[in-house]
Amino acid sequence: MARIIGGVATSHIPSIGKAIARGWQQAPEWKQFFDGYKPVHAWLDEVKPDVAVVVYNDHGLNFFLDKIPTFAVGAAHEYHNTDEGWGLPVVRPFPGDPEFSWHVIESLVADEFDITMCQEMFVDHAFTVPMSLLWPGAESRPVTTIPVAVNTVQFPLPSPMRCYKLGKAIGRAIESYDRDLRVVVVATGGLSHQLDGTRAGFINKRFDLMCLEKIVCDPLALARYSARDLVRDAGAQGVELLMWFVMRGAMTGQVTEKHRSYHVPVSNTAAAVMVLENKTAFQLAPKNATTV
Ligand code: DHB
Ligand code: FE
Repeated sequence: MARIIGGVATSHIPSIGKAIARGWQQAPEWKQFFDGYKPVHAWLDEVKPDVAVVVYNDHGLNFFLDKIPTFAVGAAHEYHNTDEGWGLPVVRPFPGDPEFSWHVIESLVADEFDITMCQEMFVDHAFTVPMSLLWPGAESRPVTTIPVAVNTVQFPLPSPMRCYKLGKAIGRAIESYDRDLRVVVVATGGLSHQLDGTRAGFINKRFDLMCLEKIVCDPLALARYSARDLVRDAGAQGVELLMWFVMRGAMTGQVTEKHRSYHVPVSNTAAAVMVLENKTAFQLAPKNATTV
């Protein structure tokens, strides 16, 4: 059966993609930020996932204001990137796993999440930048991917609790898939930021640090916030924190925080990365234990 080995949540700011493209990882203004990913690479090297379920928000590349699904799941053989106007190089396609995607889609719909199914899906910076951050310089794509898009652009937005429950349903979908695959759930977006309006440049470090704490040890308390509360406390784009609720909800077992780093600011955003390891009762059992 497929197993959820853990979750990674990370910011997806386009300027990070530009820094990667220009090889600025060691530049004084970037070094501290990129060093925050070294423990993530060590963990990924150790756990070696086969598949990444990538929960992100599209910013107008694949869905526009005329049609925006609240939740969408990709079921393509590969996912293409294209120019969004941020000045980032277009990256080569990411391989999909349509069979696994269709299993997730069937399981979600049976679980009363009536998501949009996408047999074609362009992935924007919110997908590509985290992939480059997690697997830098990879010659070939090290994982297959299942994109899950959550609307954070057009109100009404899904509530944090709904996103947490979607995560739970994704967890059930993954663990009922009859192939021996190691799956990491990646959430992208946040933390606090606002790019437009009178609060442009808004960052709320106190709120961010509280969220980083609660997402690990008391996600349900945090999930009681409304999406509008998140906009108030984290900024209009800080509401991307919704993706973190999906990832946390998908953790099915005993969760251990393996790494956290927080860096303010990158561009207009409080950047953060977190790694949670997920161990189910089965995985926690000693190696020589008999399982029936
Ligand atoms: C920035 C942050 C984002 O989340 C995004 O999607 C685009 C830009 C920024 O801080 O520049
Ligand atoms: Fe964003």
